[in-house]
Amino acid sequence: GSAEFDLYRPSEEHDMLRDTIRALAEAKIAPYAAAVDEESRFPQEALDALVASDLHAVHVPESYGGAGADALATVIVIEEVARVCASSSLIPAVNKLGSLPVILSGSEDLKKKYLGPLAAGDAMFSYCLSEPDAGSDAAGMKTKAVRDGDSYVLNGVKRWITNAGESEYYTVMAVTDPTKRSKGISAFVVEKSDEGVSFGAPEKKLGIKGSPTREVYLDNVRIPADRMIGEEGTGFATAMKTLDHTRITIAAQALGIAQGALDYAKGYVQERKQFGKAIADFQGIQFMLADMAMKIEAARQLTYAAAAKSERVAAGGGEGDLTFQGAAAKCFASDVAMEVTVDAVQLLGGYGYTRDYPVERMMRDAKITQVYEGTNQIQRIVMARNLP
Ligand code: CAA
Repeated sequence: GSAEFDLYRPSEEHDMLRDTIRALAEAKIAPYAAAVDEESRFPQEALDALVASDLHAVHVPESYGGAGADALATVIVIEEVARVCASSSLIPAVNKLGSLPVILSGSEDLKKKYLGPLAAGDAMFSYCLSEPDAGSDAAGMKTKAVRDGDSYVLNGVKRWITNAGESEYYTVMAVTDPTKRSKGISAFVVEKSDEGVSFGAPEKKLGIKGSPTREVYLDNVRIPADRMIGEEGTGFATAMKTLDHTRITIAAQALGIAQGALDYAKGYVQERKQFGKAIADFQGIQFMLADMAMKIEAARQLTYAAAAKSERVAAGGGEGDLTFQGAAAKCFASDVAMEVTVDAVQLLGGYGYTRDYPVERMMRDAKITQVYEGTNQIQRIVMARNLP
């Protein structure tokens, strides 16, 4: 109903934030987007610009030195960065993904120790759930954490870890009781500097080439027992609760990529002349643009509604609905991003297929949003198990 609508309509502050982040993204991030993709290099310029404006991890609560922005504000930041450079949008998105287990379930000491440096821009946070043989079946992980006196000793391999090597901190899910499957998994904070932590070669990917994806090797990594996030055996639930919130940030990313592609194509068709007039004057082109904009708007409403739900859940509201809404927003928005970016390439014709124009990069970047934080097939399983 309309009451629900009021809950997620962006406020004046949200609109102001969007203006700020859009200006910053266009001035300081967009100029490097093509090079970051072409050279498969980390977008240091984006990190520096985001940190300088305190926009790299806006979700961190004020009590731990953060901006204390709500879930919708976080979505807007990610959306606007993704509109110009999807790789760079992984900085605020994965900072939230990596640190949310600590925020949701960590001890006061862990929060103080790890959220401060994140908020200050001195450290990034990555999230280590997947393994070579445990992707969709996350509970099938093999990485072990064995208690030894006042420490745990971790051994295993985590794969597809976004920003691995760049991040100082890693939330690692590991098996503490192999007899209990998901209830025998615990979550820990591991630091890059812990002895026995190392990284694989960067993956050679189709898109988001500026965001390093590497394996994380844990070789007899001994950490103090108080680095465990929450109680023993709650790590899988914490990992899933985290994804309920952060799948919305992937929806935001997808939305931003799609909007960037539409904005570019819209400008192009007004300039491009064939048969004696701008191709924007042909109804066939207009219908494509109308469909693209319609789908983006539907994805935006679903994403913002899910963000409002995420905010209410974080403040203590019920969770069942969020699981459905987070999965629905991610699944829908990522499919929209794929469709819209393919259409944007089509609208630019042969030019769209070249690296001289940004839409082929957006199309390659869009694909990952249908895959990570759970494939869209997994999202459908999650939705079916949590039908409203
Ligand atoms: N909230 C809280 N607890 C939850 C939960 C949720 N949303 N979902 C599950 N749990 C807990 C419950 O305690 C549950 O036990 P009960 O049945 O007693 O309630 C327990 O976990 C086990 O749950 P399931 O039986 O549903 O577990 P499952 O093995 O069937 O798996 C799954 C469920 C949804 C398929 C899950 O494995 C999944 O989400 N897979 C996809 C993994 C994924 O998204 N990976 C993304 C990696 S991160 C990434 O991509 C990052 C990046 O770099 C950007």
